[in-house]
Amino acid sequence: MKTHKIAVMAGDGIGVEVMPEALRVLETVSKKHGIALEYETFDWSSADYYQKHGQMLPDDWFEQLRGFDAILFGAVGWPAVVPDHISLWGSLLKFRREFDQYINMRPVRLMPGVPCPLANKKPGDIDFVVVRENTEGEYTNLGGRIFEGTEREVVIQESVFTRTGVDRVLKYAFEVAQSRPAKHLSSATKSNGLAISMPYWDERLEQMAAQYPDVRWDKHHIDIMTARFVLNPEQFDVVVASNLFGDILSDLGPACTGTVGIAPSANLNPERRFPSLFEPVHGSAPDIAGKNIANPVAMIWSAAMMVEFLGQGQAPYQAAYTDMMQAIEHCLAQGPRTADLGGKATTTEVGQAIAAMI
Ligand code: NAD
Ligand code: IPM
Ligand code: MN
Repeated sequence: MKTHKIAVMAGDGIGVEVMPEALRVLETVSKKHGIALEYETFDWSSADYYQKHGQMLPDDWFEQLRGFDAILFGAVGWPAVVPDHISLWGSLLKFRREFDQYINMRPVRLMPGVPCPLANKKPGDIDFVVVRENTEGEYTNLGGRIFEGTEREVVIQESVFTRTGVDRVLKYAFEVAQSRPAKHLSSATKSNGLAISMPYWDERLEQMAAQYPDVRWDKHHIDIMTARFVLNPEQFDVVVASNLFGDILSDLGPACTGTVGIAPSANLNPERRFPSLFEPVHGSAPDIAGKNIANPVAMIWSAAMMVEFLGQGQAPYQAAYTDMMQAIEHCLAQGPRTADLGGKATTTEVGQAIAAMI
């Protein structure tokens, strides 16, 4: 059996606390199913590394990482030490762009036993996936300031929508929709206010839809889509969105299912030319860091997505993925629970409980 090389990067804040729990669960499940995972730990992409080196990553990060099968990532961001745009553009956003991880899969599911902040929702009612464009769109460093410091100061922040970039995320999303029972794709747009980019997005969507006649599709302006996430989340199956819209929807979705503390994500290079990256949707949570109270489920679920991706549908990996998901569900239903879910358990206790259930 192939040995998979995993780069482990815990990063900042609660990233450092939730990562050991994912590794604990991975150890248990890989032993059980005879899956060979080999880890290498990196202290990059953290405020500590930045303080020592004046940058988030070494100059040769690309060469050092490109041979890995996956990157397991905690969280990055410690604004007290390094401004967020510097730390993020210096690490995570670089990985996504330069390893061409153009798909960001962010499942949203109401799990049994998790208190839902929306009225009268039960497990099964909310079960969709946000397919987020992950390398371009509104996330650019193009633009600048002119007449800086004067009353005529102008700040320009450009967006970039390429035909390749838009088409590949739409195609992927249609394929995900096609593979699910509901076969329904909802696209986030804002073609009333954004006069150039979003009409283009809609045009490409319509073109792409012609190739998937069995997929029902619709489009929603992002403003009303956020309202529908809250009022009628049952209607969503697969949601495709540009980088920024997808970012916003993928915090809102998990909040509607109880907590951002369980939300996972997979930053995929579907062609496997470069390593894919698996990380929680949440950040480093400075407000609760260092207390061992963060919910490790998002990190553990992300690790499960990694196992599934590495396995490419092969039996032991699929069984390992199912085991991890069942253990997560069981733990969420029966406890122990961290504070974000109204419990008193520590990060470690939840990780141990999930590992024990495997
Ligand atoms: P955040 O996700 O770190 O925290 C938002 C809120 O959710 C906080 O109140 C936090 O305590 C809570 N929370 C988050 N994860 C939790 C968990 N596992 N269990 C329980 N509660 C949890 O977002 P933020 O406060 O906007 O950002 C903090 C830092 O993290 C910033 O530097 C930001 O840029 C960075 N960030 C990084 C990533 C990433 O690495 N992918 C994602 C989001 C934010
Ligand atoms: C996420 C985060 C990042 C993003 C930030 C930290 C740049 O919010 O992974 O959702 O916006 O993509
Ligand atoms: Mn986000």
